[in-house]
Amino acid sequence: MLSSNITVGENGHLYFAGQDTVALAEQYGTPLYLMDEGRIRDNMRMYRRAFSESFGPEALPLYASKANAFKRIYEIAKEEGMGVDVVSSGEIYTAVRAGFPMERAYFHSNNKTDWDIAFAMDQGVGYFVVDNREELDAIDRIAGEKGIRQKILLRLTPGIDPHTYEAVATGQVDSKFGTAIETGQAREMVSYTLGLPHIDLKGFHCHVGSQVFGEDVYERASDIMLTFLAQCRREFGAALEQLDMGGGYGVRYVDSDGYVDIPAAIARVAAHMKAKCAELGMDLPEIHMEPGRSIAADAGMTLYTVGTVKKITGYKNYVSVDGGMTDNPRYALYGSKYTVYLASRPTDPCDLPCDVVGRCCESGDIIQPKVDLPEPRRGEILAVCTTGAYNYSMASNYNRVARPAMVMVTPEKSYVAVKRESLEDLVRNDV
Ligand code: LLP
Repeated sequence: MLSSNITVGENGHLYFAGQDTVALAEQYGTPLYLMDEGRIRDNMRMYRRAFSESFGPEALPLYASKANAFKRIYEIAKEEGMGVDVVSSGEIYTAVRAGFPMERAYFHSNNKTDWDIAFAMDQGVGYFVVDNREELDAIDRIAGEKGIRQKILLRLTPGIDPHTYEAVATGQVDSKFGTAIETGQAREMVSYTLGLPHIDLKGFHCHVGSQVFGEDVYERASDIMLTFLAQCRREFGAALEQLDMGGGYGVRYVDSDGYVDIPAAIARVAAHMKAKCAELGMDLPEIHMEPGRSIAADAGMTLYTVGTVKKITGYKNYVSVDGGMTDNPRYALYGSKYTVYLASRPTDPCDLPCDVVGRCCESGDIIQPKVDLPEPRRGEILAVCTTGAYNYSMASNYNRVARPAMVMVTPEKSYVAVKRESLEDLVRNDV
């Protein structure tokens, strides 16, 4: 099986986090998002431990909640001592409603509105990660109106190509995110920021991309960031205590994907950064990273009920399920790979080559093409693995399809964390 939380039970069914997926589908209905609570906690603890061992006790990993944002996951992040990365007033509101300590929240986005800025300040968000000059001016003005001094990091682009797919690469100079070091604009921005009365510049941030497997990507990015940080400390005498290296470690969606040993990767980056700091004659700043996918992805699985099985003689076969691009748009958007199992008979011979498709009125509504499955019967349960990141958070109501429920699973129990949307929910805002 793809991941250690996916097993086959004595009854031959697929189990997830120690529970029978066929029974869960029956109890809660489909489509259904499952989240393995133990795996979320293990992943967060792995980051916390690796950070304190490699970077020291001050270093804080932030859960990038765009990967999967709902109240329960912010509660878990709080319990596990994580910080969070939030990107919208909606994520901030959800975190606040979950009782997350907002001084450990870092507010991202390349286009925060004045309303977002004021809202985030009112909610006590600890840090703003500032993308550009207009935003900096707005934060300074609004902080002034509120009589506060806002702590910020500046988001910079180190000019690194992380070799991931284009839609999620962000570290290049021409990215829509951040301010480029190479063009001299970052230096100007630092100088400008230090003159603003209501801004407290704490350090820098960069994020090179997502689903990153490249061996030395973070080492190369950190060389550029640390060199620039040292230059600014020297030139401006600014403290610049923090350096946030963003998120991005890749996860396995299919057996042929690589595997990142994250604690080992963090230890390597830390050793590299310490050596670089020694060379630059400065102390290691307080280090942050913002993992999203590598915390949530393998903690998730989606269950569907099989409907139509269509065989187009001489061409191809389609297995249609009761969800689709509305709950998982990632194949449609990025051509992402997924592992699919027939939950009631995962070890039967896979004799049906097919495309697993959704129920939307669109040919591109594909969950995964070219899958081999035991020929499913209408009503059987299909499981799609590694759906804990960027599935629920990117879900839509296209075709007025209601969003699935999210159920948390432990070996002892399961419980609803997000209710299934009802038909009434779909018309709630129609006037
Ligand atoms: N920090 C920043 C500033 C980010 O933009 C992101 C992801 C992260 C952290 C978390 O990166 P992660 O550890 O999850 O790779 N929807 C796409 C992924 C978009 C990633 C956006 N930013 C997908 O489904 O693959």
